[in-house]
Amino acid sequence: MSDIVDVAVIGGGPGGYVAAIRCAQLGLNTVCIDAWKNERGRASLGGTCLNVGCIPSKALLESSEQYFQVKHKISAHGIQIEGATVDVPAMIARKDKIVTTFTTGIASLFKKNKVQSVLGTGKLLKRADTDDAWCVEVKDGDNIQTIRAKYVIVATGSVPRQLPMVDIDNETILDNTGALALTDTPKRLGVVGAGVIGLEMGSVWRRLGSEVTILEAMPDFLMAADEQIAKEAKKIFSKEPGLVIQTGVEISSIKTGKKSVTVQYQDADGNKQKLDVDKLIVAIGRVPNTADLGVDENGLDLDERGFVFVDEYCRTNLTNVFAVGDVVRGPMLAHKASEEGVAVAEAIAVKEKGHQLNTQPVNFNVIPWVIYTAPEIAWVGKNEQELKKAGISYNVGQFPFIANGRARAMNAPTGFVKVLADAETDRVLGVHMIGPHVSELISEAVMAMGFSASSEDIACIVHAHPSLSEVLHEAALDVNDRALHI
Ligand code: FAD
Ligand code: NAI
Repeated sequence: MSDIVDVAVIGGGPGGYVAAIRCAQLGLNTVCIDAWKNERGRASLGGTCLNVGCIPSKALLESSEQYFQVKHKISAHGIQIEGATVDVPAMIARKDKIVTTFTTGIASLFKKNKVQSVLGTGKLLKRADTDDAWCVEVKDGDNIQTIRAKYVIVATGSVPRQLPMVDIDNETILDNTGALALTDTPKRLGVVGAGVIGLEMGSVWRRLGSEVTILEAMPDFLMAADEQIAKEAKKIFSKEPGLVIQTGVEISSIKTGKKSVTVQYQDADGNKQKLDVDKLIVAIGRVPNTADLGVDENGLDLDERGFVFVDEYCRTNLTNVFAVGDVVRGPMLAHKASEEGVAVAEAIAVKEKGHQLNTQPVNFNVIPWVIYTAPEIAWVGKNEQELKKAGISYNVGQFPFIANGRARAMNAPTGFVKVLADAETDRVLGVHMIGPHVSELISEAVMAMGFSASSEDIACIVHAHPSLSEVLHEAALDVNDRALHI
């Protein structure tokens, strides 16, 4: 590839592949370089999200929830199903098929949009001052090529944060990759970290029959969530048979035996404890992936936590080099990565092609968070702790699913919705949910906040009856003490 392309995207996850498609749609000659290979050694686009993240985890969460419903919940509807069993390899195979459908789907989207897809690890070479282009060296085994590009978008994502005392072998001690590929349900499963992955993966294997113990370092869990939601989640989860969550622990050693793992730790009261499990998932956060990128050679600025330093427009300190997604500050979420990818693609197209586009920085305040446990947890905007800390006065409206006809009909009357609105202007500042299908319900709140709605705006909208969305409606009404069904 000797000609200069307009854009070289390094990384084919939701940040990189979406940026590449949008660049190509806008007429930019685009290459996307991605290093991910599947177990057959073939390119597998989509990054963490499609290969070992969002999609496979949601496939297993759905399968395991269906099994759990049949096994433990469906009798509430008067349906008796005796002897339901689970075929874990079949469940994993279904998940793998979904992953393949989507990863090959991206390859088709690249073809359709004329994005050139290159397999290998991309490294930014030092740029000659006289040259108008960046050189990206792409290595795949012994195969090395150089791509020259006017613009580079770094979208190299993140990798699991390691616990210093253990090696992940993905046989006994697992990260997200191993946790999504078990072919047998472990009898005893340990999880280090009660964060998003710990809770979601712990849920999958608990529903399939594992005795799950989650060890969390912080005194509480879900520190990013609204405190009241986190408390409610803890209350609900601690009643679940087969699930123990211990907070405030300090792990002192992890030792692997022939077929088990022993974790020694100090509990919140300072007592020494020992946990024997068959498998251990380590999910203590993720770190930006800047290895192999040529950071030092080019003087690419990183922040104090190792993320590629960018401004609000995702510009790095290097001319015409942008960075998006997990490798830069902000929430590590696929939709945030994709939004940044689109924003950068459009900014480049405005400069290069003169497109008339309204390029805006991504508004982090309206990025939804969803945790796919049962019940689900979702939020957007500020929580009560943040508003109190910022000294902003607000009104609260809250409504429980137990008073909602649809939730009752579904036999899922757990949780509530809370709307926080500015005390002076009534503008919605945050919406927090725990309950059935709140992963879908949160979109209405995101839309409302995206349009700077007031709680009264939501209250004025007609919501279908009976529907779960009425809980958000009633919570909005409750901001001004107008809730009807409580
Ligand atoms: P990535 O998806 O990590 O992609 C980076 C890509 O770049 C990879 O393919 C990598 O191989 C490639 N790469 C790295 N370095 C180079 C290089 N030098 N040259 C070439 N290629 C390179 N988020 C959600 O929003 N919803 C969810 O439900 C959700 N579930 C998750 C579940 C799990 C178990 C995990 C681990 C994560 C989950 N996430 C979820 C987070 C989500 O996966 C990430 O936020 C998202 O994938 C980030 O996208 P990205 O493009 O920045 O990086
Ligand atoms: P996390 O940051 O959500 O949680 C990590 C947890 O591990 C924290 O509670 C932390 O206090 C704890 N911890 C850290 N060190 C520890 C130690 N030594 N001992 C015990 N506990 C320790 O990170 P997680 O779960 O690894 O997920 C990474 C990211 O991936 C998430 O933050 C999220 O951005 C993304 N993700 C998103 C999902 C979604 O949107 N539904 C699903 C899964 C992941």
